[in-house]
Amino acid sequence: MGSLINKEVAVVVVPFPAQGHLNQLLQLSCLIASFSLPVHFVGSTIHNRQAMTRSNGLNPLDLAKLQIHNIPTPPFLSPSPNPNTSNKFPAHLLPSWEASVALREPVAAILKDISSTSRRIVIIHDPLMSIVVQDAASIQNAESYVFNPISAFTYFFTRWESLGKPPLIDMIPEGLPRMEVCIPEEVKGFVASQYNHLDFQVGNIYNSSRIFEGTYLDLLTRDEFSRKKKQWALGPILPVKLSSTSQHKCLEWLDKQEKNSVLYVAFGTTASMSEEEVRELAMGLEQSKSKFIWVLRDADKGDVFNKEVRKISLPEKFEENVEGYGIIVRDWAPQLEILAHQATGGFMSHCGWNSCLESITMGVPIAAWPMHSDQAWNSVLIAKVMRVGIVVREFERHEDLVASSTIADRVKKLMASHEGDEIRKRAEEMGDAVRKSTEEGGVSHLELEAFIAHITR
Ligand SMILES: *[C@@H]1O[C@H](CO)[C@@H](O)[C@H](O)[C@H]1NC(C)=O
Ligand SMILES: *[C@@H]1O[C@H](CO)[C@@H](O)[C@H](O)[C@H]1NC(C)=O
Repeated sequence: MGSLINKEVAVVVVPFPAQGHLNQLLQLSCLIASFSLPVHFVGSTIHNRQAMTRSNGLNPLDLAKLQIHNIPTPPFLSPSPNPNTSNKFPAHLLPSWEASVALREPVAAILKDISSTSRRIVIIHDPLMSIVVQDAASIQNAESYVFNPISAFTYFFTRWESLGKPPLIDMIPEGLPRMEVCIPEEVKGFVASQYNHLDFQVGNIYNSSRIFEGTYLDLLTRDEFSRKKKQWALGPILPVKLSSTSQHKCLEWLDKQEKNSVLYVAFGTTASMSEEEVRELAMGLEQSKSKFIWVLRDADKGDVFNKEVRKISLPEKFEENVEGYGIIVRDWAPQLEILAHQATGGFMSHCGWNSCLESITMGVPIAAWPMHSDQAWNSVLIAKVMRVGIVVREFERHEDLVASSTIADRVKKLMASHEGDEIRKRAEEMGDAVRKSTEEGGVSHLELEAFIAHITR
């Protein structure tokens, strides 16, 4: 007798080499593999290694089921981020993104190979890898799906802006950013060239939930957005931590804190703060008198294994002054476990979509501080539409230094005010609803099952 794996349909996942994207597609791969389908995860050696090393929370047994294809990494420059730019876009990653285009040939060979031994080959790829997977169009038994790692809200409003803002919605949220401000000129060409290769795909996948983005997911089914393709909203189905053998020191500290008393501060993997910004934030946190865990890291380089990383300095005596109520984490933090902890009562965040989804699912309200790209839209979704957060600094004013007094004021509002409590209550209720939706019989779970049934039909 053979294994229980269904070899009839093979799934090939092609992620884009930036942390937030790698993470989502690795998790999706594990989810699909749990349905006993063979899943091939295809990328450059270095970025596959990045995805695996940082896969905290994922079950090693699920990871072991994946067939990882390591393609020799195409050479690219890996400069340090520049913390002094007023636009926080991680332009230093562009060389690594552009290099990924060289994966086209090896990926085509892998697809051909897998297609010859399967009834159907299902390719799920990041929209920014469309050039790389384009040869799937000429493989008879191949079927491709785009996995959108951004919110349906961002996707809808950016497309809506490009279509000349047609009158489709009654309520246009306040404070929507404009694309030209969030996506700098130098990356527009790269993005546009990828989006030119989105014709052969048969479906769109969103990492989102009908519970909080139903309006926008519905709007996206209209022909002008969906190009008549099928659509699924598969998220956010978060991994459940199984073992606590490698307990991080900050989790032990959280165990000793009161419910909802700690603010978690982290700005993701692509934003670098200048010395001035770090100083204001440090002073603001100190003035707020709130307890906090602050993840203080520089942005990733294209090659995250290159260890020449700037050590960000803090104001003199800061760490002494905050001893007992503030913790600084300079390494990789167990973000999901921190957000899931009952002592965590708020998240000061750049509003990357991974962070938003984790915070929403764990029922933690957000103090939104968007830095670049889709984060600007996400902050509007969080604070104005879902009302599960407040804004620390409107994206419009991203060129201004945020003063420590503003930061302290915003932190107090979220962590220690009546309004903050109301927002927290809404966030908690939303979190409950979202978590239920991912259990058997819930909308997110049903949609995942429908997707699996569709690709194995
Ligand atoms: C950023 O500014 C600081 C001074 O504020 C300076 O020491 C540093 O070299 C600058 N970094 C870059 C990459 O320009
Ligand atoms: C969606 O994103 C969340 C947050 O990073 C992740 O945990 C989840 O696995 C993703 N869902 C899918 C279907 O990829």
